[in-house]
Amino acid sequence: MKWVFCLMAAGLCLCLQSHVDAETRLSRSAIEKAVIEAKDTVDLAYEYSRRESIERVRRNSASPSDVLRLLKQPLGQTRLAVRSADYMHFAVNLIKRSLERHQKRSINATDLISEEDLQVIADLTGCSARRRVPPCKTTPNLDKFRTISSVCNNRKNTRWGSSNTPFTRWLPAEYQDGISLPKGWDPRRTVNRRLLPLVREVSNQILRIADYRVENDPLYTHLVTIFGQWTDHDLTFTPHSPVIRSFSNGIDCDKSCERTDPCFPIKIPRQDPRFGRNSEECMPFYRSAPACGSGNTGHIFGASNVREQMNSLTAFIDVGQVYGADDTKAIFLRNLSSDEGLLRVNTKFTDNGRELLPFTNMSVNMCATRARITNDVNAQEVPCFVAGDERSNENIGLTSLHTLMLREHNRLARALAKLNPLWGGERLYQEARKIMGGYFQVLTFRDYLLHIVGPDFIAKQLSTYPGYDENVDPSISNVFATAAYRFAHLMVQPFMFRLDEKYQEHHDFPSPLLHKAFFTPWRIVFEGGLDPILRGLVGHRAKLNTQDRMMHDELRERLFKFSSELALDLASLNMQRGRDHALPGYLKWREFCGLSQPKNQRQLAKVLENDKLAKSLLDLYGKPDNIDVWLGGVAEPFVRGGRVGPLFACLIATQFQKIRQGDRLWWENEGVFTEAQRESLKQTSLARIICDNTGITEVPEQPFQYTTMSKFTKCRNIPAFNLSPWKENVK
Ligand SMILES: *[C@@H]1O[C@H](CO)[C@@H](O)[C@H](O)[C@H]1NC(C)=O
Ligand SMILES: *[C@@H]1O[C@H](CO)[C@@H](O)[C@H](O)[C@H]1NC(C)=O
Ligand SMILES: *[C@@H]1O[C@H](CO)[C@@H](O)[C@H](O)[C@H]1NC(C)=O
Repeated sequence: MKWVFCLMAAGLCLCLQSHVDAETRLSRSAIEKAVIEAKDTVDLAYEYSRRESIERVRRNSASPSDVLRLLKQPLGQTRLAVRSADYMHFAVNLIKRSLERHQKRSINATDLISEEDLQVIADLTGCSARRRVPPCKTTPNLDKFRTISSVCNNRKNTRWGSSNTPFTRWLPAEYQDGISLPKGWDPRRTVNRRLLPLVREVSNQILRIADYRVENDPLYTHLVTIFGQWTDHDLTFTPHSPVIRSFSNGIDCDKSCERTDPCFPIKIPRQDPRFGRNSEECMPFYRSAPACGSGNTGHIFGASNVREQMNSLTAFIDVGQVYGADDTKAIFLRNLSSDEGLLRVNTKFTDNGRELLPFTNMSVNMCATRARITNDVNAQEVPCFVAGDERSNENIGLTSLHTLMLREHNRLARALAKLNPLWGGERLYQEARKIMGGYFQVLTFRDYLLHIVGPDFIAKQLSTYPGYDENVDPSISNVFATAAYRFAHLMVQPFMFRLDEKYQEHHDFPSPLLHKAFFTPWRIVFEGGLDPILRGLVGHRAKLNTQDRMMHDELRERLFKFSSELALDLASLNMQRGRDHALPGYLKWREFCGLSQPKNQRQLAKVLENDKLAKSLLDLYGKPDNIDVWLGGVAEPFVRGGRVGPLFACLIATQFQKIRQGDRLWWENEGVFTEAQRESLKQTSLARIICDNTGITEVPEQPFQYTTMSKFTKCRNIPAFNLSPWKENVK
């Protein structure tokens, strides 16, 4: 027997065809109507947010949270993916709500929407297109060069490690409702029978450094810190939805403490050191965008229904932060007006004749606004720079690495053209890009990771290359992006150092406080260019993360502070992000890594080698299980020779192990480079890359390791990269 009934929902008539003995099926027209309504609502919210952003920037009132939001703005393919996901999420919610209203008994509404109907919704919202298997057979040169998005790196699972796919999970998500609401969404709900502390309370109690006394790292330079950010921006970017107000009730996330998707504001505790007593304020926080078809749809695409977050970058070490992770962006970054394989450079300014990054052509110009509202006398309005990753302006140290690598690409392309006069622009671009990929695989594994995870984890997981394994999924895990690889936030100095030729504080361009070095491309254009900043990175020590001095207030109290607006707190953001992404707590991850699971204060004190810290943590959390994993990780004492504790060493080593073994185009994999080319790549020297592309004449030969200037090496004594194996024999 079959019958049809209709119900009204938000001005929308849903007609259901129900089989008495089978599941409900929605009529095609009901689905179409729901999708149209969802699209209208989402489009309106996007449009409102776009106009509001432009307006705020124009009024010079962009707040730090606007800055963060603009920074996490999805663009290009990512924007399409996020929009499709928003359509689908909202359409399913509309249908669910009307079904729920109709159903008397409380059964899961998602169970009422059949897999077939979900498929129809996915088709109509554009979500299915995001899952389509790309035609690898017709893509040229798959064995020689990487695709920009890294689709087809794995020939069986063609989307593994490609951009705009969900982060993978190594442990199941722990949402408050089991599906999509963050932990702590309802602050009165307990987790392991305890209330979760406010993240800002934890930040205040555990992480705070209010003065400018910072312990310097005895071994490592500030380049180690910024290189962490640099490699992170090759591997992970979690987009937000661009909307700034709730879909369901129109509340502006910036203006309310109400938790309503996508707003998940950070509540400020009473007696906050910055905000004083009885503060009612919240810091705005936007949830990460859900991946298509995750979080409220039941079972679809053969996967579970929990909300997943997206990675808009490729999982591989492929220097995507220079070249982009989607095709449109990659083309935009190339200089196609000549056939030389070059990347586009700035046509208005140079740095003493050396190349600078091009300016963005975007109409919302955060960097110019920032220059306009600062009280710095040198500030001039220039647009933001544009690079492969959207965050290249975040601080001038990072911008310097982007600029340095742009120059190195162009240097390589020109040198390859001399060696192989017959090569065209496409070949030159691809070969130079491939060498750059090789460089960073070598530098990361040979030089960088050793200083982070220490020799024991290197020996266990990251030493000799085991060969390519097509069964290893290289995708970045949620815990790596959201917790473990944020370890370097505790190694950030409160200054961006600028040094002169003698590696002394620069007389003309002194070192700015960090918060005065966020989004300031003008400092690179008008304040002495790259050289003083790079000298500051290799000639100054990193901040040492110690258990009683964790995160400097430049990041905790002045993040993206340009004016008097409410500045953000990076520690609070990290913990709130972990809850947004439903990461399990500290002990579950210790268990995942085969480490002990301290159950009480005595045991925790032993793991942390610190009674006082263990007590403070338990005063806040009640149980070690509930400690936010990012905080638990950064609170651990370092492993031997490393700069993270055993938990993060395990998570970081595990991720890099997968990135290497699951990369068909890994530099050591047979057939990717010739043997002679591999010999050249083994000699890759970051010091030499600095020498080749700047006016710097003396550098530490191991730029991650701190030494005094008397031990620096003259550039002419550092061997040049041997390009001769790239000369093609022409018959
Ligand atoms: C409802 O969904 C939840 C989460 O997916 C599941 O654990 C539960 O068993 C479902 N309940 C029913 C009645 O199907
Ligand atoms: C492109 O390359 C040509 C030739 O080297 C150069 O003159 C021009 O300035 C470049 N344009 C950009 C935007 O990089
Ligand atoms: C910026 O450049 C991109 C790529 O060429 C183009 O698609 C876009 O329309 C441009 N935007 C503006 C505001 O000019």
